[in-house]
Order: sequence, then C-alpha cells, then structure tokens
Amino acid sequence: MLWSQNASPIRPQHLYLVVYINLMFGVLSSLPDLSDKSCTFKVTLRNFRVILSWELKNHSIVPDHYTLQYTVISIPDHMKTVEHCSNITATFCDLTDVWEVLSETYAVTVDGFRGNTTLVTCFIDFFLATHISLEPPEFDIVDFTDHINVHVNFPPVMPKILDGKVLQFYLPLIIEEQSGGIVKKHNPTLDENVTGNFTYVIDNLLPNTNYCVSVYFKHRNLEEIHRSPVKCTLLPPAQDTEFS
Ligand SMILES: *[C@@H]1O[C@H](CO)[C@@H](O)[C@H](O)[C@H]1NC(C)=O
Ligand SMILES: *[C@@H]1O[C@H](CO)[C@@H](O)[C@H](O)[C@H]1NC(C)=O
Ligand SMILES: *[C@@H]1O[C@H](CO)[C@@H](O)[C@H](O)[C@H]1NC(C)=O
Ligand SMILES: *[C@@H]1O[C@H](CO)[C@@H](O)[C@H](O)[C@H]1NC(C)=O
Ligand SMILES: *[C@@H]1O[C@H](CO)[C@@H](O)[C@H](O)[C@H]1NC(C)=O
Repeated sequence: MLWSQNASPIRPQHLYLVVYINLMFGVLSSLPDLSDKSCTFKVTLRNFRVILSWELKNHSIVPDHYTLQYTVISIPDHMKTVEHCSNITATFCDLTDVWEVLSETYAVTVDGFRGNTTLVTCFIDFFLATHISLEPPEFDIVDFTDHINVHVNFPPVMPKILDGKVLQFYLPLIIEEQSGGIVKKHNPTLDENVTGNFTYVIDNLLPNTNYCVSVYFKHRNLEEIHRSPVKCTLLPPAQDTEFS
C-alpha cells in the first residue's frame, strides 16, 4: 500500500510540458466539431501572414459583403469585430496582427450580407496550430563549384504567432537537396529572432552535377506539408585555375 504513495509523481512542470506538446501537436480529436456546414474555412500562413479564407458551399447564395468576428476560447469574452475584416467584399481576411497564439483555439463567425439583409452566418472553431496550412517561404539559390547558398526570405518583423521558439522547435524549416534520386534533408538552426534573409550553405557537393532544392516548414501532420517548387542548378565544373 505504502509504495503507491511513493510512486513517482508527474512533476507539475513536466505535466505542463506534456499538455503543451499535446496541444501543439493537436491531440484534440475528441473535441466536438462545432463548425456549421454553410462554409468551408481555410487558414493559411502565406508569406508569414495569417490569412483566413472562406467559401460558401451553396453557390446560389451570393453575399455582397462579409463581417468577421472571433473570440479566443481560453479567454471567455464576447465576439470581437476586426475593423479591417468588417463590411469587406473579399472572402478572406489577414489576421496576422490579431491572432497571436499558435497554441490557441479560435472561434470565428462570418456573416454574409446582401444590402442590409444577412444571407448566411458561418461559424467554425479550430486549434490554430493544427489547422493552419503552412506555405513554404520564398527562396533563391546561388550555385558555386562545390556548394549552393540557399537564401530564404523571412519577413522584417516576425508575426507574433511565430515568435520565440515556435519556428525553432515546432515548425522547423527544412531544406531538401535532391540529386540523382537521392534526397537529403537539412534542418538549419534558426535564430530566435530570424528576420530578413537567412542564408544556409549546402556544402560538399560534386562539381558538374545537377542539384535541386526545395524548402518547407515541417508539420506534425505529414499530409499537411507543402513543399516549395524545386529550384535546380547544374554546378559548374571544377576548374584548376580557381585554386591557383
Ligand atoms: C441554396 O440556396 C438557395 C437560396 O437560398 C436555396 O433555395 C437552395 O435550396 C440551397 N441549396 C442547397 C443545396 O442547400
Ligand atoms: C458595416 O456596415 C454596417 C451597415 O452598413 C454598419 O452599421 C457598421 O457600422 C459597419 N461596420 C464597420 C466596422 O464599418
Ligand atoms: C439599410 O438600412 C439603413 C438604415 O436602417 C437604411 O437607411 C437603408 O436604406 C437600408 N438599405 C437598404 C438597401 O435596404
Ligand atoms: C528578439 O527580439 C526582441 C525584440 O526585437 C528582443 O526583445 C529580444 O531580446 C530578442 N531576442 C534575442 C534572443 O535576440
Ligand atoms: C531578401 O532577398 C530578396 C531576394 O532574394 C530581396 O528581394 C529582399 O529585399 C531581401 N530582403 C532583405 C531584408 O535583405
């Protein structure tokens, strides 16, 4: 009997970490799906902007403007209106500076109006970290005889949801090198504050050989990985003069 009292407890900070990681990786499949069936929603990280877009399923309903409201599930509050997402004709809205926590559940309603009449109300709630679709960053390659410099474009200011260690630990950047059917994955270490252009050197390459490079953010859900289109180059042949 006594041993059970001494059984090693899960320390609080450990438990917190487990819960956090579970949240980050979206072990939330048991949550009820509260979204209605009038719209399909998509949330995308594109050029480091958080874009929520929607589409009405019934194409005979054609609103002329929309108003989006949201609330953060962990902070019970009324629905908030976002000024630049109110009375808009577009079917998407940029929420980069509004949604700041990746490991948070957001509830959203979108009202579609024609004139003063509400034609449709769509709603959804989702855990941002697992629902967000990560588009790859822009990049360029510069080739040399035996190495390739990969320049990845990061924004001058990182959006809040990717602040700190999120990019380092939860959505790591992968640079994939392919040559002759062989794929090598590189996992560059990013600064906590990476901004502007980041250069990664793929070295020890063979001169006069074809290489292709693509980049993406690794996602827990492998089906959710969106690789960039490849950029390919034939490295120049080695020239003795270079070393003279
Ligand atoms: C689509 O909307 C129109 C107009 O409100 C309605 O008459 C029609 O029944 C709807 N179709 C479906 C499949 O819900
Ligand atoms: C949107 O339009 C409605 C009706 O025209 C108006 O009452 C409301 O204040 C507008 N909202 C914003 C944020 O401009
Ligand atoms: C919308 O409502 C406003 C104020 O209630 C009214 O002045 C306007 O005529 C209405 N517009 C339409 C298209 O019904
Ligand atoms: C990252 O940038 C922020 C704001 O510019 C700064 O407060 C913080 O100290 C920086 N962190 C590191 C590790 O450089
Ligand atoms: C990063 O590189 C791109 C071209 O690859 C260039 O257009 C952009 O101005 C650069 N940004 C910074 C902050 O250097």
